[in-house]
Amino acid sequence: MASLGSIIFALFSLPFLVASQDQPLSWEDDQFYECLLQEPTIFPRQLGSLFYTQSAQSYWPILQSTLRNRRFNSSDASKPRYIITPHNSDHIRAAVMCSKRFNLDLRVRSGGHDYEGLSYLDRRGPFILLDLGQFRNIDVNVTDETAWVEAGASLGEVYYNIANKSGTLAFPSGLCRSVGVGGHISGGGQGALMRKYGLAADNVIDALIVNANSTLLDRKGMGEDVFWAIRGGGAASFGVVVSWKLKLVHVPPKVTVFTVERSLEQGATTLIEKWQKIINHLPKDLFIRILIVMGKDKRGLPTVEAIFESLYQGKIHQLMPIMQKHFPELNLKAEDCKELTWIESALYFDDGYKRGESVPDLLNRHLNYKPKFFKAKSDFVTKPISREGLKTIWDTFMQLGGEQRLMIFGTIRWKTE
Ligand SMILES: Cc1cc2nc3c(=O)[nH]c(=O)nc-3n(C[C@H](O)[C@H](O)[C@H](O)COP(=O)(O)OP(=O)(O)OC[C@H]3O[C@@H](n4cnc5c(N)ncnc54)[C@H](O)[C@@H]3O)c2cc1C
Ligand SMILES: *[C@@H]1O[C@H](CO)[C@@H](O)[C@H](O)[C@H]1NC(C)=O
Ligand SMILES: *[C@@H]1O[C@H](CO)[C@@H](O)[C@H](O)[C@H]1NC(C)=O
Ligand SMILES: *[C@@H]1O[C@H](CO)[C@@H](O)[C@H](O)[C@H]1NC(C)=O
Ligand SMILES: *[C@@H]1O[C@H](CO)[C@@H](O)[C@H](O)[C@H]1NC(C)=O
Repeated sequence: MASLGSIIFALFSLPFLVASQDQPLSWEDDQFYECLLQEPTIFPRQLGSLFYTQSAQSYWPILQSTLRNRRFNSSDASKPRYIITPHNSDHIRAAVMCSKRFNLDLRVRSGGHDYEGLSYLDRRGPFILLDLGQFRNIDVNVTDETAWVEAGASLGEVYYNIANKSGTLAFPSGLCRSVGVGGHISGGGQGALMRKYGLAADNVIDALIVNANSTLLDRKGMGEDVFWAIRGGGAASFGVVVSWKLKLVHVPPKVTVFTVERSLEQGATTLIEKWQKIINHLPKDLFIRILIVMGKDKRGLPTVEAIFESLYQGKIHQLMPIMQKHFPELNLKAEDCKELTWIESALYFDDGYKRGESVPDLLNRHLNYKPKFFKAKSDFVTKPISREGLKTIWDTFMQLGGEQRLMIFGTIRWKTE
């Protein structure tokens, strides 16, 4: 880990009745439904909205609800035989048990942001979608600075609920409000506080999972190896995460943010070279990432632009001398900076201000979200990219032209010195 420089990624009951209203359950579907009902205390018949066959009216809207990549919205994409939307961990246990008994694959979806749609596609055969969209409780305890969050909660909901209880507690995770904590934390989770506090997964102190035997286990029950694996190893390989217990972190009442754009003509390449050298030596309170996008030069011709996005856990007058000392070439001005509360910064990084939103809008994971047709990939870079390397990237951007391209240079060196 010691040589790890930067991370770079590019983005390019009632249900029974409902089903039987559309058309009667087939013998097979009925058998499956009976299996769900067999689990003690599970799926009481009067409880609605938990089990959907393909002919149920809500099947399609639920399937679409967090389909976040239009690439996988084709008619030939594999479709789940059933959708189960659990409200408690017993429902999850029943889903695991019955999928095993009926030899159906189980896909688990929290926020649906998987780059390859792995949470709602399965090309190997018939499968069940366990959709945690209704499984989103958040319980913040300010006294011991922790929060229990259910796997389907979005980052925006987690942030809002923390800030609702305290102006100086936060959680270090991603910058996009609609990402789900189920997939996000089980894969790591990086964001603007990570230079100081590490990844989201580093700040999990307990968890509840349902394993392949449909047993509900906490950290003690699953053991330290499994607890380690589900925090970065992709939890779906080990079970279904029901909820996480998060250790909250401290932020000052005001943080400083800035976004400055520099085109190739304005020396973007040299600035990026410098950024690569200094980024791991800046004070831990300072986070700066770079977005590479296609822009227009003064004559309106296509060019590559570097956008420096930053969060500093302090005030403008404290930030300016740090930038002057470490990165004077960026030529940052106090006027480029804004002092915000941490929760306002969450809205800022998710472009909320640009769209005229306010803090409570963080609760809405569908607001202004237009699923894109995209291919994205993350990678680690273990030594700085050379000037020639950067130029090759710019050439590739220019050649591809047209459609939106995005590349993000992050940083993830933490506790390595
Ligand atoms: C627009 C966008 C912005 C992003 N921004 C950031 C960012 O700022 N920082 C960052 O680090 N990442 C970011 N990501 C990546 C994101 O963190 C991952 O794609 C993450 O896996 C998404 O989690 P999810 O719950 O939304 O996705 P899902 O598609 O629901 O799940 C992703 C994977 O996790 C599994 N999974 C989901 N829930 C569970 C569960 N409860 N138990 C077991 N397995 C489960 C799924 O089966 C699937 O394999 C972004 C992605 C997108 C599309
Ligand atoms: C998926 O395609 C259908 C049919 O073309 C369309 O109605 C729906 O809005 C699309 N969903 C998303 C999330 O793009
Ligand atoms: C919060 O945590 C404290 C300390 O662990 C505990 O005493 C208290 O009961 C918790 N509060 C709630 C509402 O759970
Ligand atoms: C906290 O949430 C309550 C209930 O939604 C709301 O009325 C209140 O304004 C919120 N307070 C803060 C500080 O966000
Ligand atoms: C499931 O139960 C079987 C039989 O008791 C046991 O051998 C196996 O290890 C268990 N699997 C898990 C993942 O706990």
